[in-house]
Amino acid sequence: MSFELPQDLKARLCGLASIGVITGAGISAESGIPTYRGKGGIYDDPEQGDRTIEALSAPTLRMDPDRAWQAIAKIAGAAHGAKPNAAHYALVEIERKASRFFLLTQNVDGFHAQAGSRNLIDIHGDTFKLLCMQCGWRGELGRVAGHEPCIQTIVATGKAPLCRCGGTIRPDVVFFGEMLPMAKVLRLHAEFYDNPPEAVISVGTSSMFPYIVEPVLLAAQRGKLTIEINPEETEISAHVDFHLKAKAGEALTAIAHAL
Ligand code: APR
Repeated sequence: MSFELPQDLKARLCGLASIGVITGAGISAESGIPTYRGKGGIYDDPEQGDRTIEALSAPTLRMDPDRAWQAIAKIAGAAHGAKPNAAHYALVEIERKASRFFLLTQNVDGFHAQAGSRNLIDIHGDTFKLLCMQCGWRGELGRVAGHEPCIQTIVATGKAPLCRCGGTIRPDVVFFGEMLPMAKVLRLHAEFYDNPPEAVISVGTSSMFPYIVEPVLLAAQRGKLTIEINPEETEISAHVDFHLKAKAGEALTAIAHAL
């Protein structure tokens, strides 16, 4: 049986023109990718939990890039071979129906772009995009051996990939302790703050960071429609108009139909 939206939400969704969406790891859970926090998550390991955060930090990337890459390879390896799911495609449909749409994601799996979302701010970057820390070379993380640098080689050797110039290659993602990319921050401000949308939908995130929480709270304060899709409670749950305790795929598919 398909997921039923509350009637009063359906009425408010009908004919909405501008929509901002925020996503986190929960939207990719139905693709088989582990989330970060919670049971079975990347940080849910008594031995490695905090050490994984440390491995994904700016100092580790500089001082011990092999260790940083071993943690990155786990994240990229989970996304490699998996595919976008119904929730990613429902957002493409929502973008097609709305006259103004933008999507702020914390995910580094590249699934929103792969599914076809266009107005996308991947604030934490994309783990499959690479950058040489010395010469600035840019490229893609290969998914099959022979297309170096590739995930399998990094997993097998435990070594950070090196550029032809001899410099260390890094993924174009934001490590703990690094600044968010300014151009993306400016875009998110322009979209959420300067010209706020009629509705903000937050999906599959534990809402840990101020730049993820504030756009929702601001929309709520301004009387805009606010929706959270998450089976669990988070910091924003008490502030949104509708907390849908559902899976991202079923809830977003229902929203795409209701628009
Ligand atoms: N549908 C919707 N939500 C789900 C689903 C699902 N099928 N499965 C899990 N969730 C929810 C969980 O209840 C949880 O609140 O997704 C959320 C995932 O939370 P986190 O693992 O903390 O992921 P996220 O919020 O994206 O983390 C933010 O923290 O370490 C960093 O850089 C990392 O971008 C990440 C950031």
